[in-house]
Amino acid sequence: MKYWINIILPDLRKDLKIPLILSVGYSKEDMEVLIPALEGYCDAFEVSTHYVGKDLSQIGETVRTITALTNKPVFMKISPHIPDVVAFAKVVQENGAKGIVAINSLGPTLKLDAAKRRVLMGNESGEVWTSGPAIKPVALAIVNKIKTAMPNFTVIGAGGIESATDIVEFLLAGADAVQMLSAAMLRGKDLYQKILKDLPVVLTSLNFKSVKEVVETPLQKGNVKYQPSHPVIDHGKCNLCGICERICPYFALEITNRVVVNIQECFGCGLCESKCPAKAMSGVL
Ligand SMILES: Cc1cc2nc3c(=O)[nH]c(=O)nc-3n(C[C@H](O)[C@H](O)[C@H](O)COP(=O)(O)O)c2cc1C
Ligand code: SF4
Ligand code: SF4
Repeated sequence: MKYWINIILPDLRKDLKIPLILSVGYSKEDMEVLIPALEGYCDAFEVSTHYVGKDLSQIGETVRTITALTNKPVFMKISPHIPDVVAFAKVVQENGAKGIVAINSLGPTLKLDAAKRRVLMGNESGEVWTSGPAIKPVALAIVNKIKTAMPNFTVIGAGGIESATDIVEFLLAGADAVQMLSAAMLRGKDLYQKILKDLPVVLTSLNFKSVKEVVETPLQKGNVKYQPSHPVIDHGKCNLCGICERICPYFALEITNRVVVNIQECFGCGLCESKCPAKAMSGVL
C-alpha cells in the first residue's frame, strides 16, 4: 500500500484529467484502514463485497462502515452469486452507497488441461473465477434487473466488454457507465483507446446520434407467446444448405428438393430461423 500511496497515486492524480475511482476490498476491517489512507487520492471508491458473503445484513453493515469513513461517493460491487440482486442493491443504497458495479467474476469455476490431466490454474481446490465474454449475459441480466427495479440508482456495468458494441448493449440494458478489464488484459491496454475511437462509428451504424440517446432508449422485451409459430420459408432465398434440418431439435424439418416444415412436430423454438445463413426463414422470432 505504501508504494501506491507514495508513488502510483500521486503520479496518477497529477497526470489524470478525469475522475479517479479507486477499487478496494474486502472486509470491514480492511476498509477501516484503506479508506482513510486512500481518501485524499480519489474522487470515489468502488468496494467489492466478493468475500463478505451473501448475508444482506452483513453486507449492509459493511457498506455502513465504509460510507461512514468517507465523504466520497461509494459504489458497491456485486458478485453474480448473490441470489437476490435487487435486494442487495436496495441494502447498499439504504446504507449510503451511491451506486452499484455489476458484476464481479463468476465462480467458482474449473479450468482443465486434459492433456496434462490437471487443473490448469486456481486455488488449492482447483477453483478459479471466470470473467470476460462468458459472463457478459449474466452481467447484462443483473444490470437490467437492478436498473428496472431502481431506475434512479446508478449502475456501472462490467463483465465481458470487449468492443464498442458491447458498451451499447450495456447502456441499453440500463448501465450508466461501463468498465472493462479482461479484454484489455488479453488484447492489450490500447484496447481502451480503440474502443473509444470505434464508439462513434458503432453508434452511427446502429442509428444512434449519441451515447445519451442510447441511455434514454428503452430496451424492448419480447412478448411471451403461448401458441407456437412455425417458420415460413422463402424458397427464393433458400440455398438448400441443410443447416436448419440438421439443427432442428424436434426433427420438424425435411429437405427433399425444398425445405418442408412439419408443423405437427415443430415446437416454434426459432432455432432454425436464428441460424439460417440465407435469412430465408421468418415467422418465429
Ligand atoms: C485478474 C483479475 C483480477 C481481478 N481482481 C479483482 C479484485 O481484486 N476486486 C474486484 O472487485 N474485482 C476483481 N476482478 C473482477 C473485475 O474487476 C471485473 O468485475 C470482472 O473481471 C468482469 O469484467 P471483465 O469481464 O471486463 O474482466 C478481477 C478480474 C480479473 C480478471
Ligand atoms: S438453413 Fe436456410 S438456407 Fe439453409 S436449407 Fe434451411 S432455410 Fe434453406
Ligand atoms: S422453429 Fe424450432 S422446432 Fe420449429 S422447425 Fe425451427 S428449429 Fe425446428
